Amino acid sequence: MGYSKHSELFLSMELSIYSTVISYTSMASEQEVAAVGRILINPKQDLTTRFRALFTLRNLGGLEAIEWISQTFVDDSALLKHELAYCLGQMQDERAIPTLETVLKDTTQEPMVRHEAGEALGAIGNPVVLDLLKEYSEDPVIEVAETCQLAVRRLEWLMSGGDQKGEEGSDGNPYCSVDPAPPAQKKTVSELRTQLLDERLPLFERYKAMFALRNLGTEEAVLALGDGLQCSSALFRHEIGYVLGQIQHPASIPQLQAGLERDEENAMVRHECAEALGAIGKEECMKILERYRKDKERVVKESCEVALDMLEYENSKQFQYADGLLRLQGEQ
Ligand SMILES: [Fe+2]
Ligand SMILES: [Fe+2]
Repeated sequence: MGYSKHSELFLSMELSIYSTVISYTSMASEQEVAAVGRILINPKQDLTTRFRALFTLRNLGGLEAIEWISQTFVDDSALLKHELAYCLGQMQDERAIPTLETVLKDTTQEPMVRHEAGEALGAIGNPVVLDLLKEYSEDPVIEVAETCQLAVRRLEWLMSGGDQKGEEGSDGNPYCSVDPAPPAQKKTVSELRTQLLDERLPLFERYKAMFALRNLGTEEAVLALGDGLQCSSALFRHEIGYVLGQIQHPASIPQLQAGLERDEENAMVRHECAEALGAIGKEECMKILERYRKDKERVVKESCEVALDMLEYENSKQFQYADGLLRLQGEQ
């Protein structure tokens, strides 16, 4: 997951242009969505161009956008496919449920992609998928099983009246993301750190501490989160990488760099570390990413490529990252 958090960061920049895009598409919606969709499904296009098309479709939403995204799960880039599933979850549109169920069940899909499909089913928040998620909570692929356990807990929490904005007394989520767990109630950083790192606790409780620390966003909180990169669950470590990317605090650079550099580290974790470094976007981050853009692990290599492309974007002051439609207008 995660590149689309960049498009969230740019949302304020996009707002003025967004209304133009909306009115533009409402004129000839289906053809325009289809034109962006064709870029997304085309394996001959650059990966970064395809990511832009994906974010454009996510922002537009609607059934056609969901259908184009769904058709792209035949691709051979696990990075792109996991982002498809992430976007479908963040869109929170129930019409994406059948596709996500198929992807979760499909053991020919990479664990990272199936994980993201399971998480997206939890993010949509409809309890019709509860039995399926319970079934896959026992999946032999540990990342998939743990994801489904978390998604079950999230759905049960929603059914018991949980409010997506978080528990009473917790800090709100400033990142507009739909998270796999609500933030814990306000505690000190040291108490939250203890809850985060206690491997005897259920993952859901540890994730609550993670999101509470993220919402605090102080240097102390960021360093506590970075300590989570040493925990035993790869799923947990990858989520730490993800939230550090959301926070974009330079204090996490050394821990993220170490995560990316650990050869024996799970590729999903190295991918999140690379992406988080890209989100922080400092000169030193770019140098690290340059070193790994030829990594032998494909998802790591592609993560570095896309992250560097996005940094170029930030530097070039291009007006909108999710510019699939604008490019289209330019081509006509
Ligand atoms: Fe990811
Ligand atoms: Fe993920």
